Amino acid sequence: MPKKPKPLRLPEPKNSNVRLPPQHTLYVATTGGGKTTAVKKLDTVPKGAQVVFFDPYRNYAGNKFKGQTVQAFTEFAPFARAVLAARKKKTGFKIALVKDANMQNLETFAAVVWSLGDGNKPALHVVIEELASAVETAGKLKGKAGELWRGGRQFGLVMHSLFQRMQEVPKTVVSQSVNWWVGGLASTSDAIYISKAKGFELDKLTSLKTAQNNSGRAQYLLFGNGIGNVVSGEVCCTS
Ligand SMILES: Nc1ncnc2c1ncn2[C@@H]1O[C@H](COP(=O)(O)OP(=O)(O)OP(=O)(O)O)[C@@H](O)[C@H]1O
Ligand SMILES: [Mg+2]
Repeated sequence: MPKKPKPLRLPEPKNSNVRLPPQHTLYVATTGGGKTTAVKKLDTVPKGAQVVFFDPYRNYAGNKFKGQTVQAFTEFAPFARAVLAARKKKTGFKIALVKDANMQNLETFAAVVWSLGDGNKPALHVVIEELASAVETAGKLKGKAGELWRGGRQFGLVMHSLFQRMQEVPKTVVSQSVNWWVGGLASTSDAIYISKAKGFELDKLTSLKTAQNNSGRAQYLLFGNGIGNVVSGEVCCTS
């Protein structure tokens, strides 16, 4: 049996501010569909923002993200200390936790992030790569992870989560994410789901091209809050 990690002592989030706008965003596309590239290149995560990453596959750790180097940690305590210190300032930072994608690691990450919520501070953007690898259910997302989507907004937490299939996305994430970035999809059933959920033409969803089939540029649709709020675009994945 591996030794049980010592629980971290974490404070509750502070200064609930119900006026903060909903901004949680989900990204869905087949593998190679440009999700990670979209997070890196579009401004759904603004340049200069305070950002933490759950980064099991080192998509961000050690690289530049919007001009700032992403500091990487492989243990929770130093990760938590670094983010706590960075949250004391108003300036942007990029800090990644590199741990296996499993529920226990996601829960501990979520508990650290939850405790750093503060409705009077700059927004804290939280990027979670491969949430589906850590979360077994497409149902209600439980625990502290679920809390981030349900209650994070009023404490300035902005969730960004990436998936390959719509059926992998927990219901909590579907209902709480006001923005949906959609790239080239894995199957027609994904397109049908999105078409129904957003009242959007099915053929425009099934015809989205991945970078591989479109000279290195991934096509996408970005649905915002409300019916009919959608923009289309391309992200260059080769540079
Ligand atoms: N640095 C790079 N140079 C050249 N091509 C790249 C680079 N990074 C990614 N690509 C290509 O860009 C495309 C989109 O990649 P991206 O990693 O953004 O997709 P993804 O949706 O995040 O996929 P996954 O679900 O596998 O993580 C892929 O075809 C990939 O091979
Ligand atoms: Mg990716």
